[in-house]
Amino acid sequence: MAALSPVPGSFQIDATVGGGGHALRILEASTPGGRLLGLDADQAAIARTRQRLERFDDRAVLRQANFEELGEVAPEEGFGQVDGVLFDLGLSSQQLADSDRSFSFRSEGPLDMRFDTGQGRPAHELLAELEERQLTDLFRRLGEEPHARRIAAAIVVQREAAPLRTGRELAELVEGSVPSQREGGRSGRRDGGRDGRRRIHPATRVFQALRIAVNRELETLPVALSAAVALLRPQGRLAVISYHSLEDRIVKRFVAAERRGCVCPPAFPVCVCGRAARLAPVGSQPQRPSDAEVQANPRSRSAHLRVAGRLAA
Ligand SMILES: C[S@@+](CC[C@H](N)C(=O)[O-])C[C@H]1O[C@@H](n2cnc3c(N)ncnc32)[C@H](O)[C@@H]1O
Repeated sequence: MAALSPVPGSFQIDATVGGGGHALRILEASTPGGRLLGLDADQAAIARTRQRLERFDDRAVLRQANFEELGEVAPEEGFGQVDGVLFDLGLSSQQLADSDRSFSFRSEGPLDMRFDTGQGRPAHELLAELEERQLTDLFRRLGEEPHARRIAAAIVVQREAAPLRTGRELAELVEGSVPSQREGGRSGRRDGGRDGRRRIHPATRVFQALRIAVNRELETLPVALSAAVALLRPQGRLAVISYHSLEDRIVKRFVAAERRGCVCPPAFPVCVCGRAARLAPVGSQPQRPSDAEVQANPRSRSAHLRVAGRLAA
């Protein structure tokens, strides 16, 4: 809220509205007259949040859409210029609890993992169809999984007998194919969290990799960030909360490039690209949750908040 500082009458976009927690606070702070456009790829989240924000009437506009469509959706809904855009990336606690989509290790539902179940290929299709070396690459690149090769091999052996059906089956297969935490395998390393004590589940990185691939998370984010900057008024704020290093790196590099503007090689005597700087970062480092917040909400432990302000044209 401090990053966006929504004032009465301001226009804000929550590009990942989810359960509407941030949206609610933004709408309250921008009373009277402020408006908020909330997007989410997940139809169920939009339906739930529409009810939660009902009292704000037409001050809250909700659309089921992927945020990569932000550049088209926002002007259509009357948000052609805004004062703030928030991205709170990844998945919500409601999605984690939804056993129909297998975001969690305990899920008995089908291995789907799509935010928008009407688009793209579910996780079970990737697990059934990718070649062993493609699975290895996926777990390595998108999960930074040290045992990628072993896990991919175990999946290929398993699927010849029977397809993997649920989140729980996949989690158990991964757990059985990597060195146990007591043997000192790297899968047992600490998660780098602020409490420093939690061990992550051995399947965490495989689930992350599949979710990123299924939802094309690393491809959609740069498109959406660029659209967000184009919508911001001068002095408007961009705030992005990310939960893993791959997406935080994209945000960091995006802000650095938008701060630089010109992309001409240094040897050029004059600029020929014509690109001007559009953003100035607020703070040199991402903001992290306080110890008290991590205690109250352990899922916040990996959050990195980066904020930037829109420069005048
Ligand atoms: C961490 S939750 C957001 C929670 C929200 N800030 C709140 O206060 O409840 C992330 C949300 O972003 C959505 N999401 C993820 N990627 C998306 C994308 N490319 N386009 C639209 N929504 C997306 C997910 O469906 C999920 O509901």
